[in-house]
Amino acid sequence: MTLLRGDALSAAFDHGSAAYDRLVAASPGYHAHLRRSARRLGLPDGGRGLRVLDLGCGTGASTAALLAAAPHARITGADASAGMLDRAVAKSGLAGVDFVHAPVEQLADRLRPGSYDAVFAGYLFRNLDDPDKALTLVRDLLVPDGRLAVHEYTLGGSPVHRAVWNAVCSVIIHPAGRLAGDAELYRHLRDSVADFDTAPAFARRLRRAGFADVRVLPLPGWQTGITHTFVGRSAPGAGERP
Ligand SMILES: C[S@@+](CC[C@H](N)C(=O)[O-])C[C@H]1O[C@@H](n2cnc3c(N)ncnc32)[C@H](O)[C@@H]1O
Repeated sequence: MTLLRGDALSAAFDHGSAAYDRLVAASPGYHAHLRRSARRLGLPDGGRGLRVLDLGCGTGASTAALLAAAPHARITGADASAGMLDRAVAKSGLAGVDFVHAPVEQLADRLRPGSYDAVFAGYLFRNLDDPDKALTLVRDLLVPDGRLAVHEYTLGGSPVHRAVWNAVCSVIIHPAGRLAGDAELYRHLRDSVADFDTAPAFARRLRRAGFADVRVLPLPGWQTGITHTFVGRSAPGAGERP
């Protein structure tokens, strides 16, 4: 099993950043699904007057989805990989976005508590060493009753979903990753999904962390039962703080 963490993961994403946009553009539904998850934040009035944080923004695919859902919001993107972030910064469509180069684990030093109305995280959580700690941070960064949407590969729990994921990895994702020179990063993708929470388990994790009104929403296409949107609201005092 290949699970990359911390600096090794950032180095793999730095290298993988060159082919990242091309590979995700070839994945049916990738951008449309991110936009759907961003809309599921339900931000009113195009996000006017709202501050939104895109955690693990990468090359800006999720940031662009947030901009489409909330064109008037003030958006900050944060990522641990300088290579991924450089690609996001270079995109003219993201010119109004503030970018922060820092791992989630260090964001408490960089961002003020209670300074975001909404947080979005696209394909981030299964990469983290300590997802519970990151959720505590997210709660702290959100205003009371702030909104969270997590868009993640989380298997539905049926053996069919696991079998489809393994087949998609063997037939499409691995060969494409190898061709791009990023075999290790795409082995990490396969194994991090297999190793991470199922969708019901991640919903329970969100509730334990103090998020209220948690809902698990499906996405269509081959990602059915494989990729989900999780939405919830920060409910101060409701979490099982250590
Ligand atoms: C699969 S990419 C997703 C990028 C983007 N959100 C998207 O939807 O295309 C995951 C991103 O999470 C970032 N990441 C992984 N671990 C991180 C951490 N601990 N702190 C901040 N970013 C992290 C990686 O650098 C990478 O850019």
